[in-house]
Amino acid sequence: MERFKEDHLKVLQLCDKLEGIVKDIKVGIATPNVMYDLKEFLEIIEKMIIPHFQKEEEKIYPEIAQKTGEEAYINEMYEDHRKLYQHFSAFQEGIEKKDFSLITAAGAEIAELLRHHIYKEEKELPNLKDLSK
Ligand SMILES: [Fe+2]
Ligand SMILES: [Fe+2]
Repeated sequence: MERFKEDHLKVLQLCDKLEGIVKDIKVGIATPNVMYDLKEFLEIIEKMIIPHFQKEEEKIYPEIAQKTGEEAYINEMYEDHRKLYQHFSAFQEGIEKKDFSLITAAGAEIAELLRHHIYKEEKELPNLKDLSK
């Protein structure tokens, strides 16, 4: 689980950064580098966040569901991932089309939902794991 914790910390920092970029775009003070930052974020989604989600879906969540019987909680986690995949697609589409209203809408959703999702995994998953001992 250590690797996952590290990812979570990195992603929380990225959420703050993404939120900052979204605010700058909204108030019109984004620098010309903003597309570069957005593309970098997209690459992190593809190379780090999605593989992390897939490992949780394939291995970690089923294990916890099986050990604890907490089906409702685990279903909520899958549902968070599902919503986030949709926001990731919208974010990517926004970047490809240089559609800044799509980028800011998807970016704000991603930052908020990811942060909340990580909070749930960090605070509640360990408790569920303890239950299973
Ligand atoms: Fe997750
Ligand atoms: Fe996670």
